[in-house]
Amino acid sequence: MKKLLLSAALAALCVTAAAQARKNVLELAVDAPGIPIQPTMYGIFLEDINFAADGGLYAEKICNRSFEYENPLQGWKSFGKVEVRTDEAPFERNPHYVRFGYQGHPARQSGLQNDGWFGIGYEKGADYKLTFWARTAGKPKEVGLAAILVKPQGEGENQNLALAEITVKGSKWARYEATLTSPITLEKGAFRLLLWDEDPQAAVDVEHISLFPAETFNGDGNGLRKDLAQALADLHPGILRFPGGCIVEGTTLENRYQWKNTVGPVENRPININRWNYGTFERMFPDYYQSGGLGFYEYFRLAEEIGAEPVPIVSCGMACQFQNDPDWHPNCSMDDLRTYIQDALDLIEFANGSPKSKWGKVRAQMGHPEPFNLKYLGIGNEQWGAEFIERFIPFMEAVRARYPEIKIIGTSGPYLGGEWFDDLWKEMRRLDVDLVDEHYYSWEGFYEKNAGRYDSYPRTGPKVFAGEYACHGSDGKKFNHFNAALLEASFMTGLERNADVVVMSSYAPTFAHVEGWQWRPDLIWFDNLRVMKTCSYYVQQLYAANKGDRAIPITVDGKPVVNADGLNASAAIDEATGDIIVKVANLSPYSQTLYFALPAEVKSGERITLHSDNPVAENSLDAPETIVPVSRTLDFTPVADPDNAWLLGVRRQPDGSVEYSERLGGRTFVVYRFHRN
Ligand code: AHR
Repeated sequence: MKKLLLSAALAALCVTAAAQARKNVLELAVDAPGIPIQPTMYGIFLEDINFAADGGLYAEKICNRSFEYENPLQGWKSFGKVEVRTDEAPFERNPHYVRFGYQGHPARQSGLQNDGWFGIGYEKGADYKLTFWARTAGKPKEVGLAAILVKPQGEGENQNLALAEITVKGSKWARYEATLTSPITLEKGAFRLLLWDEDPQAAVDVEHISLFPAETFNGDGNGLRKDLAQALADLHPGILRFPGGCIVEGTTLENRYQWKNTVGPVENRPININRWNYGTFERMFPDYYQSGGLGFYEYFRLAEEIGAEPVPIVSCGMACQFQNDPDWHPNCSMDDLRTYIQDALDLIEFANGSPKSKWGKVRAQMGHPEPFNLKYLGIGNEQWGAEFIERFIPFMEAVRARYPEIKIIGTSGPYLGGEWFDDLWKEMRRLDVDLVDEHYYSWEGFYEKNAGRYDSYPRTGPKVFAGEYACHGSDGKKFNHFNAALLEASFMTGLERNADVVVMSSYAPTFAHVEGWQWRPDLIWFDNLRVMKTCSYYVQQLYAANKGDRAIPITVDGKPVVNADGLNASAAIDEATGDIIVKVANLSPYSQTLYFALPAEVKSGERITLHSDNPVAENSLDAPETIVPVSRTLDFTPVADPDNAWLLGVRRQPDGSVEYSERLGGRTFVVYRFHRN
């Protein structure tokens, strides 16, 4: 009897002590009207940097397929009698082509080898579709060619993996095609096209040699690499911002991104030297050009296929301000600005105009008579200064006059704060733009302290588009460490809590080829065969997949959950399911017990955690699943022993409401979905 009394007394003491010590009680204003979270909130920024498009997402395997690089045979190895020509070319905007001639002996070959970008990836059993344009160029009216998938390295006796013979007939340019199947998986393959004819007078002209996997994303022609495009789709993006970034501006205006060069038949799209070809002296990539193959039609199509609003950014007549001294006069004259404005107006017509309009017709002819429903237009990328405002004003006025329904995106420049930023914001407010594109690549300290960045922003005026951001490790540690992703997750609670201010966001950059990057960290890494999703990718995905429709207030111990002992949190309601969604980042290295006060109807739920014990751990192509979200179902049936239920777990309060508590590990990001139905 004595013993029993003692243990009861002890238990009571413990409960009282625990109740007094109780900390981290999270309260959710479930019935508050909340702030609508826009469907555009979490998106993607796609720029052809790090071989993201040519050599990456764009499924073309052949580098310099049209022989238009500054050195027309760059990307190719030629052997035998091969001549680059430009007379009577089939495509006026891509005038170079090659002529193969007889080498003087049947055993000697004339032809070309292409190694793609860092090799050509082939998958076992996959079909590859070869297309090219050709005509005979000698006496014989029929000339044989051989197309070969090649394994250039290795000890095997036969380099040729698959061979197709093609007969070119007649002296008129015509399109030829063949399908080759790879018998093996190979990361660094090559492709050869040879004159395959013993007639000493045989000669053939060849142009636009293209090799695509037969399977592309969504089965699209001129399509995208399936695995990479799927990785984008799996982000559930609300927007797709394209095509840049700095490539919009160009190093000079001549090599700015010109959308009109990227539509219509691919054979006639002129190439452009990529601004990231020589982006940095330390990492030069002389074979980095833009084929225009992944052009504006393909960007709009991709946006539509992955359910994202297209957000194109256009040049405002200013070459990259980082790469140019104003004394060099890198910008267009105010008279010439009209051309840039017209390009933007034509772009809107291309996207939305009737198939009878000039540019709507181009879209329709490409296979999309229905409009793409463009709603946003970004004018300029990272611009600043009086020269920008001077150009921005007539630009915006012209677009608004013609298309008042289009929302205009301005900019706050390249930095997260400071004089330029403040001046630009002032101007953007004065001009009443719809959205301002903010960029902030910054170190851990910024992300640690700034989950409250938008708490004090004005609630009226232009909305924020956090168009480029990423946490960069300090001391040159620009890797995709877990800790960087955790800090991004923590920062993003602030985007969500301030959904009345921030209506769009996108991490940047998105893609990087492991052998061809100019900038890091990046969201998704790939090689010729594989794809790797970083921890930052999973953060973006967790936010978008668990976005909710209405942000509701959340407090911890009666105060906002903003830098609260290492905790940052946001909460939202999913109107369709009724789920209460809570996102919590615990930045502290220590675990903390959280107590959720939940409404009575919560019976079950889900908890998805992203965690690593090692803050500098990261995923890699060889170990892509080192750190991945881990999901667990939650059961809100009260624990059997009500006296001890307060320790950890579920407790029904006398009013029926639920108290759910759990120990959240140190340095952890977690998404809770509390089901009410
Ligand atoms: O995302 C990489 C670059 O960063 C973009 O091209 C530019 O807008 C920014 O400076």
